[in-house]
Amino acid sequence: MDVYKIREDFPFLKRMVKGKPIIYFDNSASNQKPAVVIDALRDFYANHNANIHRGVHILSQEASELYEKAHDKAAKFIGAHGREEIIFTRNATESINLVSHTLDFKAGDEIIISEMEHHSNIVPWLMLKEKGIKLKYIPVSEKGELVISELEKMITKNTKLISVVHMSNFLGTVNPVEEIGKIAHKHNILFMVDGAQSAPHMPINVKKIGCDFFAFSGHKMCGPTGIGVLYGRKDLLKEMKPFLGGGDMISTVAYDSFKPNELPWKFEAGTPNVADGYAFGVAVDYLSKIGMQNVWKHECELGRYAYEKMAELGKITIYGPEPEKRGGVISFSIKGLEPHDIAGLLNERANIAVRSGFHCVEPLHRKYGLPKGSCRASFYVYNTKEEIDKFIDELKILVKTF
Ligand code: ALA
Repeated sequence: MDVYKIREDFPFLKRMVKGKPIIYFDNSASNQKPAVVIDALRDFYANHNANIHRGVHILSQEASELYEKAHDKAAKFIGAHGREEIIFTRNATESINLVSHTLDFKAGDEIIISEMEHHSNIVPWLMLKEKGIKLKYIPVSEKGELVISELEKMITKNTKLISVVHMSNFLGTVNPVEEIGKIAHKHNILFMVDGAQSAPHMPINVKKIGCDFFAFSGHKMCGPTGIGVLYGRKDLLKEMKPFLGGGDMISTVAYDSFKPNELPWKFEAGTPNVADGYAFGVAVDYLSKIGMQNVWKHECELGRYAYEKMAELGKITIYGPEPEKRGGVISFSIKGLEPHDIAGLLNERANIAVRSGFHCVEPLHRKYGLPKGSCRASFYVYNTKEEIDKFIDELKILVKTF
């Protein structure tokens, strides 16, 4: 993989602020788009724009085909059987909400998540508390790993679902989802994986993971905002009730009843996000061409490089496990400096974009005694070791000055 060649694909890298390029290390929040994806959006609106599944005219046919094919691409990308298992949503958050709203939970049911979940894999389940659903958390160790040995002890005959994050957006920890999937299925429990931070970075095969549901977002993997995916096992999706009602999710409607459409359209009510769906498919093609194994290798190398250099500086605390157990995400604190001040100074002095605060993982930050959150650098396919060197130089100055 030639990172310098890849960098040519990303227009944002040509942008100068105060005479200097931007070093973008906020990729876990959202990442930058290659020209092919930006061009696809323009191409759609300029040449193919129409509503889908609603016209026999050429534009509607083309739009429908482009949108449908993007489902096929997403299916292939994560090893699903086909488009019936791929529902386009707005983002991973909506994908998780789709499951929390449509699975048939009843009072007394139990759901197990973990202490390292993003808010989007906590709040949808907390919202079920009013139905009498109990939420349990797999503990996270001081080192930032799930204490899997606790999981089986937490399972009861009422446990209906286990839902865990594949790679933590705070700690970078890659969780043993295959192992958790085996435990879930041994006990006949549904298993959902929040793949928002894994699908953009590593090869995914949902069948190999053994999950029943897998959620991810387009905008974290070179795609547009406003498009995400819920993978669901076909037999489960068939049985589940629809999420939202309206046009396109039906095969027939009468004044007193309706019959849902076939999969996946049963779960995509109303005019969907056609242009972004199509451009998301282009992003999937773009990443597939690079090869997800290459993307992962590159990011792990960057992660390890940054981790080791940061660890040498002293006065910096890095959260989460050692480099072998994480991807290219590093959350940290500097003694004597608030996370927002670190991010502000990096931005002001060197155009380095990092995230500061809770990163939508407030409970775990509080558990770690971090009421102001942390600072986070997260890498992607276009980042380089030279950029990390600049980042380290800036950190050195901060560590020395404060
Ligand atoms: N989940 C995104 C992040 O980690 C928003 O920043």
